[in-house]
Amino acid sequence: MRLVLLGPPGAGKGTQAVVLSNNYDIIHVSSGDLLREAVKNKTEAGNLAKSFMDKGELVPDDVVTEIVAERLSKSDAKKGFILDGFPRNEKQAFELAKQLKKIGEKLDLVLFFKTMGSTVIERLAGRRVCPKCGLNFHIKTRPPKKRDVCDTCGSTLISRDDDKAETIKYRLKVYERQTRPLLSYYKKEGILREVMGDLNVDDLFKELKELFVNEKLT
Ligand code: AP5
Repeated sequence: MRLVLLGPPGAGKGTQAVVLSNNYDIIHVSSGDLLREAVKNKTEAGNLAKSFMDKGELVPDDVVTEIVAERLSKSDAKKGFILDGFPRNEKQAFELAKQLKKIGEKLDLVLFFKTMGSTVIERLAGRRVCPKCGLNFHIKTRPPKKRDVCDTCGSTLISRDDDKAETIKYRLKVYERQTRPLLSYYKKEGILREVMGDLNVDDLFKELKELFVNEKLT
């Protein structure tokens, strides 16, 4: 399966991508995670990306496209992938299609996580992440066993730098302006499917499983 998860920040793309990756044994490629890793490692790309990410702006296309292309060129991407956060505009979508064509592949589906604005804001404001192992929690919907402590590695949980109220507002604007137009782009291609991002994680996974069966992907 070659999937793209599309939707506003906080729609639950990353969370569901982990569930799908575990259940279907295909890799989860998050452009946000790849960029955060590059920032942490202070690579050239990471240093450049940081100021854009802190403001909630999109990182320049060439930087992101290269990072994602490199990840998709690894052997474990051959049997499929779940792209989360990429593409984010038409230019990135063209680049992805071009890259897949080179290896005789194409996307199977683009899943649009249709999610209410209030849900998204509540999810982002309550999100806590582990700075060490990257595990993702929510103070209400997925609280850690011990307050502010990662269940897996015991590190202190933090809020993402871009989950501040003003940055969330800005990221949502950027999404509307630059990423939402991809919906009509993929609708024209006939591969866009809308799913209910407001559902809880398990119910959404059930909906996706049914969709994959109907689409004869599994
Ligand atoms: P990125 O990391 O991609 O952030 P985003 O798209 O803004 O998405 P989020 O990670 O905020 O949300 P999500 O939908 O994955 O939600 P999650 O599952 O975590 O990008 C960050 C930055 O990097 C961008 O602003 C940009 O600067 C740069 N960037 C990245 N890609 C780029 C690109 N292609 N081009 C240019 N720049 C790029 O869930 C959120 C919370 O809700 C969690 O706490 C979770 O536990 C909870 N939750 C999730 N699902 C559910 C559910 N179903 N029910 C209840 N709670 C749930």
